[in-house]
Amino acid sequence: MKVFVTGGAGFIGSHLCEALVARGHEVFAVDGFDDFLYPARDKRNTAEYLHGALPAEAFRLRDVNLDEADTLAELVRGADVVVHLAALAGVRPSIADPARYLRANVEGTTNVLEAMRRAGLSRLVFASSSSVYGVRPGDSAAFSEDDPCLEPASPYAASKRAGELLCSTYRDLYGIGTSALRFFTVYGPRQRPDMAIHKFTRAIAAGEPIAMFGDGSSRRDYTYIDDVVAGTVAAIERVEPEQLAIYNLGGDETVSLSELVAAIERATGERARTESRPPQPGDVPLTRADISRARRDLGYQPQTQLGDGLAAFWSWLSVRTEES
Ligand SMILES: NC(=O)c1ccc[n+]([C@@H]2O[C@H](COP(=O)([O-])OP(=O)(O)OC[C@H]3O[C@@H](n4cnc5c(N)ncnc54)[C@H](O)[C@@H]3O)[C@@H](O)[C@H]2O)c1
Repeated sequence: MKVFVTGGAGFIGSHLCEALVARGHEVFAVDGFDDFLYPARDKRNTAEYLHGALPAEAFRLRDVNLDEADTLAELVRGADVVVHLAALAGVRPSIADPARYLRANVEGTTNVLEAMRRAGLSRLVFASSSSVYGVRPGDSAAFSEDDPCLEPASPYAASKRAGELLCSTYRDLYGIGTSALRFFTVYGPRQRPDMAIHKFTRAIAAGEPIAMFGDGSSRRDYTYIDDVVAGTVAAIERVEPEQLAIYNLGGDETVSLSELVAAIERATGERARTESRPPQPGDVPLTRADISRARRDLGYQPQTQLGDGLAAFWSWLSVRTEES
């Protein structure tokens, strides 16, 4: 298939492009090399790596921003499936600059959907987020895709829910079918440097203290990048026009912040020094994925245990630190 990917130079996008090419698909990716959340230089390095690693006839990546609506409409022509990953991610920075997030994530998603409408395309895979579930008590049952998700706890979460709703509107108006994938805290090589696992591992390795927000009891469902990519590829190969499906792509367990720090200590062989900070606005106490729908429809089954995934992340980070 010809797959058009937005956000191809990002963490998840770059792994996805590699996996799609390995499965024989042709990938045309775009990325705006955004410099807000983490350095554009990291994404340029990733793009250079991808161009070197993948055959030119199967992979192209161009510098295009989501606000370039006409360019997007031209470039998506002929694609079998569009995968929309480009966005500003991250909860806390979205509270500091909400308008910027809504421009990139809501207007940006509208531009992708409009580009598809203009090009007559009808299959989309959209990157949503576990954050749409909002604040749930720590002992809540696993989150189900059928929950109404009416109280997102940050502008980022609201922007992702808005993206899902826009996909629903474009399905009803124009028959564009969407699989919206709610990713649950993804980690692994090339993980964004603003994310907790990346920040903690870097600090622990450097003998620096880590800032722990809250009392360490908040819990997350961590998902290894290869598992998320496998679920996303399955969604790409199965998405149908006219249908709207939402899937949780999570790990298979939840881990407390204190347990995460202990697991990073084991992976790095170093002791952590922690500094307690109050919980941050927008942070949620729990994420826990019910993955039964993804298992049934996509054959999704996370394979990577946290310890193994952290070890893989640590070896990637060690090489990178030595090189820089
Ligand atoms: N990493 C996670 O744990 C996680 C969890 C839930 C949802 N998601 C979603 O998955 C997607 C990918 O996340 P990621 O962790 O790989 O983030 P990332 O920041 O590494 O990748 C996003 C890419 O989008 C690009 N981008 C941002 N704004 C753009 C714009 N206006 N025009 C063009 N390109 C733009 C960035 O340059 C970046 O390369 C995002 O939509 C994110 O919200 C990620």
